[in-house]
Amino acid sequence: MKREALAAIAAAADPAALEALRVGLLGKQGSVSALLKTLGAMSPEERQAKGPAIQGLREAVAEALASAKQAFEAAELAERLATERVDLTLPAPEAARGSVHPVSQVMDELAEIFADLGFAVATGPEIEDDWYNFTALNMPESHPARAMHDTFYFPDQAPKGGKMLLRTHTSPVQVRTMLAEGAPLRIIAPGRVYRSDSDATHTPMFHQIEGLVIDRDIHLGHLKWTLETFLKAFFEREDIVLRLRPSYFPFTEPSVEVDVGFAIEKTPDGRSRRVLGGSGDEPGHGWMELLGSGMVNRRVIEMSGLDPNEWQGFAFGLGVDRLAMLKYGMDDLRAFFDGDARWLAHYGFSP
Ligand code: PHE
Repeated sequence: MKREALAAIAAAADPAALEALRVGLLGKQGSVSALLKTLGAMSPEERQAKGPAIQGLREAVAEALASAKQAFEAAELAERLATERVDLTLPAPEAARGSVHPVSQVMDELAEIFADLGFAVATGPEIEDDWYNFTALNMPESHPARAMHDTFYFPDQAPKGGKMLLRTHTSPVQVRTMLAEGAPLRIIAPGRVYRSDSDATHTPMFHQIEGLVIDRDIHLGHLKWTLETFLKAFFEREDIVLRLRPSYFPFTEPSVEVDVGFAIEKTPDGRSRRVLGGSGDEPGHGWMELLGSGMVNRRVIEMSGLDPNEWQGFAFGLGVDRLAMLKYGMDDLRAFFDGDARWLAHYGFSP
């Protein structure tokens, strides 16, 4: 039986034939398995006499099957190596590449424009202490303006006993930078801010850029010139017209809301869109609210460790996402944060 089995294995024509043999010999119903089973019914003496031969048969068959299988595999590999060739001259398939997100792009553009005006970039934490986010900005506890911010609070208390929150604006970076660096100062602070708000023009997370100039003789004229200069550079138009309106922020005094004039243009497909430029008072034009600003409140300067009789300055805070929408013609803020590459490509943000 052994000779027969080994001869059959040696003669197997392909892996399928070999597998059929394996099942016939060592499978549950296989002939070698059947022989092995007879061992159980034998007397100890008989088992001692016949056992080694049967076990030897099983081992020899298993070994022959394994080496025959290996031989088939080696032959198959040799065959593939001989016939398959990689053509290194074929062009590789193009890999998908990412691109800069419009928000990052606008932040980079703004940092560059302000760098030319002598502004450094400052940063602060997104998880903020309510002292920096509110109190030091002249919004003591129970100040009604705190309620306007729809703040995300953390349940845990800060070490100093204050509350921790997701910063609702980049203005706390004003305080942090004055405390850390003193005066004079010329900084912008770009970053994420959070408010519990969501519709087509509001997302719970959005981006702001804070501007802060502190020096000895700063006045509103410097603020207006700075904003005009940066908006002309950013929108690449000389005809940008600003309108300053009196407003209220606890951390600036006086406070000014800044509007920019736009014209309504018809697109080739018949829709109308707003294009910045010109006075908003001209026919077919309008004013759009762009940012909040003002002269830094004396109390903020004081709480930031500086003497308000020596130092004063201006600050502004503007929405980066809205600026990106205006520059690149997007109309739904929420799409900014969907991560849809087709949307990005539609607005020209693909490599
Ligand atoms: N922090 C204000 C806001 O988020 C904007 C602002 C910044 C206003 C600086 C005045 C000065 O609405």
